[in-house]
Amino acid sequence: MKKVTAIYPGSFDPPTNGHLDLIQRGSLLFDELIVAILRNPDKSPLFSLSDRRRMLEELTAGFKNVSIDTFDGLTVEYAKKVKAGAMLRGIRALTDYEYELQMAMMNRKLSPNLETVFMMPAEQYSYLSSRLVREAARLGGDVSGLVPELVERRLKEKLDPAYKLAVRTPRKK
Ligand code: PNS
Repeated sequence: MKKVTAIYPGSFDPPTNGHLDLIQRGSLLFDELIVAILRNPDKSPLFSLSDRRRMLEELTAGFKNVSIDTFDGLTVEYAKKVKAGAMLRGIRALTDYEYELQMAMMNRKLSPNLETVFMMPAEQYSYLSSRLVREAARLGGDVSGLVPELVERRLKEKLDPAYKLAVRTPRKK
């Protein structure tokens, strides 16, 4: 049987439990899944590319058929380079659909043989986005349960200088 490699492109700034849910589902459906982080010099991300890569590598270490990579330029060109036959994207609510449909159609025009496959994350993550996580964390909101613990810690280190100081210099007994 033909083996199918899929890419799962995105910004992952930061990776959320919704992303991980989709990675798990994708890893069951495809033979190989490459989580591809967009190197986008226009955006100023909260986490550097290498931070995001490291976090995703750690979070997906348990999946044998999942790897992490970075790319720039057109996603379809990257898909060709790694010989992927499918592109995985998550659809949460109806509001995602219009944008995702446009992108899928544009990508089909650019690369007719690459199929976009939409999957839905578990219901509890249906409202979750990296942008909302960044916003909530910046304003001191509790994001536990929405991002893996590793990401929660990194968010605190980045956004709460007092937390970083407390972790680095534990109080003497
Ligand atoms: O995590 P995101 O922001 O939803 O991911 C969007 C992403 C990276 C998949 C999309 O912006 C993308 O593919 N960018 C690369 C340029 C490209 O190929 N654009 C689509 C066709 S013009």
